[in-house]
Amino acid sequence: MADTDDAQEVKEFHTDVKQQTESYFLKGSNSLDWGMKNRLARIFNSRSGNTVMLAVDHGYFQGPTTGLERIDLNIMPLVPYADTLMLTRGILRSLVPPSMTTPIVLRASGGSSILKELSNEEIAVGIEESIRLNVCAMAVQVFIGAEYEKQSIINMTRLVDMGNRYGIPTLAVTAVGKDMVRDARYFRLATRLCAELGAHYIKTYYIEEDFETVTSCCPVPIVIAGGKKIPELDALKMAHNAILKGANGVDMGRNIFQSESPTSMIQAVAAVVHDRETPDKAFELYNELSNQRT
Ligand code: R5P
Repeated sequence: MADTDDAQEVKEFHTDVKQQTESYFLKGSNSLDWGMKNRLARIFNSRSGNTVMLAVDHGYFQGPTTGLERIDLNIMPLVPYADTLMLTRGILRSLVPPSMTTPIVLRASGGSSILKELSNEEIAVGIEESIRLNVCAMAVQVFIGAEYEKQSIINMTRLVDMGNRYGIPTLAVTAVGKDMVRDARYFRLATRLCAELGAHYIKTYYIEEDFETVTSCCPVPIVIAGGKKIPELDALKMAHNAILKGANGVDMGRNIFQSESPTSMIQAVAAVVHDRETPDKAFELYNELSNQRT
C-alpha cells in the first residue's frame, strides 16, 4: 500500500483554465484513432506537416538496384536525416540495427518481378509481422488501369482493414505502367480511388501540369516518389514544386541514393520539404555539404 503520510493537502485544479483539445495537423486524419494518429505523427513532422521518406524497397521486385547493393554501407549513413525509412522486412531484419528508432514504413505487397507482369502482386506480409516489427505504416502497390488492377485494389483494402484493427496506417503507392499516360487526370483517378477505399496516405508521381488538382481533390496526404535519377537541382525543384502545390512530402529513393553525394542530397531535400527552402538555396546547401565531404 502506498505511504500516504506525506500526501499534500493543497491541490491546484486550475478550474478557470479550459482543457485544451488539439486539432490534428494532418489533412483528412482528424477522425482516426490515437494509435494511428500517433504513428502518422512519427512519419510526418508536426512542425512542417511534411515528411522526407527514404525509399529503399526497390529490391522487392528488381533485386540489387544501383545504389542499394550494400544497404549497410550506402543507406544506413543517410538514416539520421530521414523522417522515415521505407523498406522490406528482409532488409530490415538482416541489415538494420534494432537500436535505430527512425519510423519504418514496411513494404507489404510483393509477388512479381521485373521479368513478368508487375501488377500481379499480393499482400506479402501478415499483420502480426508488421506489429512484431513495430512498423509505423504498411505500403502496398496499387495498379490502376493495369492487368491486375482489381487484385491490387483488394490487396490495399484488405491491408487497410487489417491495419485499422491495430492502428497501423496504410500507404497506397500508385504504380503507373510503362505505356500509361502520366497526367493529372490519371493521377486524380488513382489517388482519389485509393483514398475513397481507405488508404491513410498516398504516394504518387509529380507532374508539371495541374498537380495541384491532384492534391486538392485527394482527401488524405500525398507524398511524391522521386522517380528516375535526374540532376540534383532538378530533383530539388520537383520536390519544391510538389510541396508548393499541396504535397505533404517526398518518398524519394534513386534521386537520393544515386546522387553523387547522397548524404548531402537528403539534407538538401529536407531543407526544401521542411523549411520550404528554395531549390537554388537548397542546391547551394547540397554543394556546400558535398565540398565539406571531399
Ligand atoms: C518502387 O520501387 C517503390 O515504391 C519506391 O519506393 C518508389 O518508386 C520511390 O522510389 P524512387 O524515388 O526511386 O522512385
